[in-house]
Order: sequence, then structure tokens, then C-alpha cells
Amino acid sequence: MKFFIDTANLAQIREANELGILDGVTTNPSLMAKEGITGEKATLDHYKAICEIVDGDISAEVLSTDFKGMVEEGQKLAAIHPNIVVKVPMIKDGVKAIKWFTDNGIRTNCTLVFSAGQAILAAKAGATYVSPFIGRVDDISWDGLQLIEQLVHIYDVQNYQTQILAASIRNPMHIIKCAEIGADVCTCPLEPIVALLNHPLTDSGLKKFLQDAEKMKTAVAGQ
Ligand code: E4P
Repeated sequence: MKFFIDTANLAQIREANELGILDGVTTNPSLMAKEGITGEKATLDHYKAICEIVDGDISAEVLSTDFKGMVEEGQKLAAIHPNIVVKVPMIKDGVKAIKWFTDNGIRTNCTLVFSAGQAILAAKAGATYVSPFIGRVDDISWDGLQLIEQLVHIYDVQNYQTQILAASIRNPMHIIKCAEIGADVCTCPLEPIVALLNHPLTDSGLKKFLQDAEKMKTAVAGQ
């Protein structure tokens, strides 16, 4: 399973990249706004800066909701860097735009996906990635992980090439379960990625090893 970080924060992107396990980045308009990015030039420059940090797929979302606007914006985004993947919302014009991008050699990430039907349409249109939002499904008392399981099954049976990018991840268990189920990618904020490191037995085990290492040094010095 590939690991993407879901943020537009350059410091967090650098931190995750330095771990050596990062395969890409996803952003969305809310994440860009959180970093204070406004206007076309600043937006394109920010995506360029992300591409310079991470050698992997970088999702950049269109802001238009009509076919023509999405195609125009997507072409500009794709021209920034070969690693840019144009993120398109799951709406009627979005499906048409994904098909257009597919036919014109531009890779896409179909976002705001909450059902199997939507994921089938994204795959049929040739999306490179489909982004089902686990956390937001959980938020309305449905089961986000069950959706991932269903999509993995459908894509397998139908031999769809679109990669399942599990999004809206809220905790380390989401990541572990996605790996177990067979998601192709998970995109998460920095916190749940770092939380995967933690185990109390690792902490107590290391503490004891370090204490014993001190005894070893004393013993060697006393010889
Ligand atoms: C996916 O690409 C989205 O940017 C993201 O995962 C949404 O997550 P949220 O539900 O925590 O906003």
C-alpha cells in the first residue's frame, strides 16, 4: 500500500518525506486555504513547491464545477509537473472531464466518492485514482472501511485499473485496516502516520536496553 500525506503544509510534507516512506501528496481546496494560499499564481507556485519536495504523485484539485472550466484548469495544473494528478469531484461534469483527461493522457484522482456506484463511474471514465472518504462516511454513522472492502472486491472482479486511494483517514487503525483490506493507497494527515510508530513495549524495551547498555559501558571501562 502506498502512503500519501493529505496536507498542503510544506513543513509537514518535508517531515513525512524525511521518514523515507512517502509516495505522494493529496491536497484539496480546504487544505490549501488553511495554508493561506489564494489566487491562481500562488496556487500554481505552491503545487510546484510540493513537487520539488516529494518525488511522487501530487493531487491538485480543480475549483471549477463545469466541464469546460475543469478541463482548462486541469490542463494548467498538469503542466506544472509530470507528477501532478488532476483531482476532479464526482459530479456529472466531473465524470465527463475525467474521461476527457484520460483520453488526453492526463492522470486524474476522482474525489468526494462515498458509494460503490460513484466508484464504478470513476473507473469507467478511466480515473487513475478514486478517493473514497472513510472518515466522512463514519461521521454519518455508516462504515467507511466497509466501503473500501466493497470497492476492492468490485475493482478486483471487474479488473478495473483505477487505484483505490483511501482518504479522509482519521486514525492509525484506519491505515492498518486499509492495508489489511487491500487499498492501493492511503492518504492521511501526518499525525496518524506518526502514530503508527508508537507502542508502549517498544518504549519500555528501549529504555531497558539503554540501561543495560550503560552497564556494558561501565563493565568495559572496569576491565
Ligand atoms: C482526500 O483527498 C481529501 O483531501 C481528504 O482525505 C479529506 O479528509 P477530511 O474528511 O479529513 O477532510
